[in-house]
Amino acid sequence: MSTQKTIVVIGGTGEIGKAVALRFAANGWRVIVPARDLGKPSAQELMANPSITIILADVSKLNGAQHLFQLLKNDDITIRVVFQAAGTFLWDDGFPGPTKNAEEVARLLFSANVETKEHVVEALREYYADTLGSIRMDLVSSHAAQFGPEHPFRNGPFCEEGYVAAMARVSAYGAQLKAEGIFAETIVHEPGLVASDMARTAFPPERAGDIDWAAVDTPEEYAEKLFPNTFFI
Ligand SMILES: NC(=O)c1ccc[n+]([C@@H]2O[C@H](COP(=O)([O-])OP(=O)(O)OC[C@H]3O[C@@H](n4cnc5c(N)ncnc54)[C@H](OP(=O)(O)O)[C@@H]3O)[C@@H](O)[C@H]2O)c1
Repeated sequence: MSTQKTIVVIGGTGEIGKAVALRFAANGWRVIVPARDLGKPSAQELMANPSITIILADVSKLNGAQHLFQLLKNDDITIRVVFQAAGTFLWDDGFPGPTKNAEEVARLLFSANVETKEHVVEALREYYADTLGSIRMDLVSSHAAQFGPEHPFRNGPFCEEGYVAAMARVSAYGAQLKAEGIFAETIVHEPGLVASDMARTAFPPERAGDIDWAAVDTPEEYAEKLFPNTFFI
């Protein structure tokens, strides 16, 4: 039986998730990444790494998450860490996405940021019920989860109420899982900006002021902060 440790990275085709996936692969772990589109360049890049297995699965749907964990269970894979970084950001006016409708924005944000995480946990409970207590669960929320009502991004010319609500729900969900003690550990991360393309596109100067992007952690730097070298000893 293989003693190689396994991490499942949800949102691994995105920049934060990909940086985490590559960091674990470089440190000898087996890495599983579900992808919605195998043709996406990041999926292709991950596929070229012999330590990383890409599985076609869309965790925005419960049956996508179920498909993923059923396959892993069938292959008798023991999971040590599930890192969840699927999600996105939109302002309430829809920028930088195509919709202008605030209700639709809120729905998209909830689906991408919250439902993906709930589906993964639900599918794990179904297929990994016997070993949940040995799995570490990492949830990427956002510092926006803590923005009070007077925060400029809730009260200024451009508001992100939909994102704040979604990320507050992610952080609350993490607290709930922690309180229930389902997993070995449940860790909620609430980063500020991380210099991914997604963040750079969503936070132009006319909305977010002058951001010194050179001083913002890259996804790789952020991944190293979350999982420093000492984690892998
Ligand atoms: N970057 C930041 O500054 C920052 C700060 C705080 C919190 N966060 C949070 O961290 C997470 C990742 O950010 P990132 O910068 O790495 O973004 P990213 O590069 O755009 O990656 C997003 C990832 O989430 C997946 N995803 C997006 N919408 C989805 C949906 N509806 N269903 C399933 N998967 C979906 C994407 O899958 P595809 O590849 O299939 O599209 C991709 O794997 C987001 O939740 C974001 O809100 C980011």
